[in-house]
Amino acid sequence: MRSDIFDPSHYATTRLADSEAETLPAWAYTSPEFYEREVERIFMKVWNFIGRADHIPNPGDYFTIELVGIPVIVVRDDAGRLRAFVNSCRHRGTVLVEGEGNGRAFKCPYHSWVYALDGELLGAPEMQKTSNFDCAQYPLLPVRLETWAGFLFINFDAKAEPLTTYLGDLPVNLAGHTGSQLVCTRRKVYELNCNWKLFAENAKESYHIATVHRKTINQYASVEVARYEYVPVQGQYAMNYAEHPGSMALLKGDPGFPAIATLEGQARHGTLSPFIFPSTYVAATIDTLWYLELHPHGPDRTTLVHGACFPRASVERPDFDDVVQGYYRRWDITIDEDNAICEMQQRGLSSRINGRGRFCYRERVVHQIDNWVLDRVLDPCS
Ligand code: FES
Ligand SMILES: [Fe+2]
Repeated sequence: MRSDIFDPSHYATTRLADSEAETLPAWAYTSPEFYEREVERIFMKVWNFIGRADHIPNPGDYFTIELVGIPVIVVRDDAGRLRAFVNSCRHRGTVLVEGEGNGRAFKCPYHSWVYALDGELLGAPEMQKTSNFDCAQYPLLPVRLETWAGFLFINFDAKAEPLTTYLGDLPVNLAGHTGSQLVCTRRKVYELNCNWKLFAENAKESYHIATVHRKTINQYASVEVARYEYVPVQGQYAMNYAEHPGSMALLKGDPGFPAIATLEGQARHGTLSPFIFPSTYVAATIDTLWYLELHPHGPDRTTLVHGACFPRASVERPDFDDVVQGYYRRWDITIDEDNAICEMQQRGLSSRINGRGRFCYRERVVHQIDNWVLDRVLDPCS
């Protein structure tokens, strides 16, 4: 590796227009220093997508995630308000809860300090002899949480702009889908041995469909059939639109649900796929919306969460449980295809001998993602 990996001259060729540009150096996907800079400049500052509010519909419902080394509890409190906290006890730091569930309070497994669902420290056994100890001074540390149409986002930066500013016109562009009362019917978690950018980049290019998804997506939505257009937008996201017959979420020949009734315009005839920077992929097709959520853990470790959302009208159909299996099968197969290729790419990029490549015209958003990252990682004013 070069002595100063943040010297802008290393990235000058990635900064060129996509048809002229070179790919990022391999170290951008493998180096702990580059990853730490991304955590500091990106994930600690942006609105990080963390799933759906209907994952925790009732007071006391909670789930936990870990994002860039920060364990987080997301909970619905007694008043029904959604909250997020750092999942670390204020006594001596132990993680309070794991997984997901429902409870009246959080009790630390180490010395039994107990916290209310709103983060307040309710009780701390045998602390009477500790001078000036006041429970009110040791609540769980809150994390900013805001929502749009039932989608949850957290931000570790108290000074960050509101979520609505960050998202720009995305809520308008997806209004037909979010207006259908989406229900997340399945959330599936994968642990990947690859850099978060590799999966994000993969999700936003159609170049690999003919090869990686030769027997699956390519059978009904090849790049020749589906025109993957780039849609200009405002906000911290990039969007493509592909017009195609049928649903993008089914394998060829499988039966599906009716089109979402609230869709209008081009959304009725294909798939809108916004990519919310830095790492969230959404695909909104004619009968469903699904998302791919990434939680980076290190340069070569990432958790992927796939969420499947359907309009309430479809979920309430008597044949929902049968018909939805076709959608789940399609996602299970194609996500495995993508995961496998991303891990192979990580192995190749980890080679001590490596070189730079070039982008195909179908990889315009990959180039955009890489430059969005460089804008922040190399910013001399940050
Ligand atoms: S570390 Fe939680 S009660 Fe001691
Ligand atoms: Fe793919």
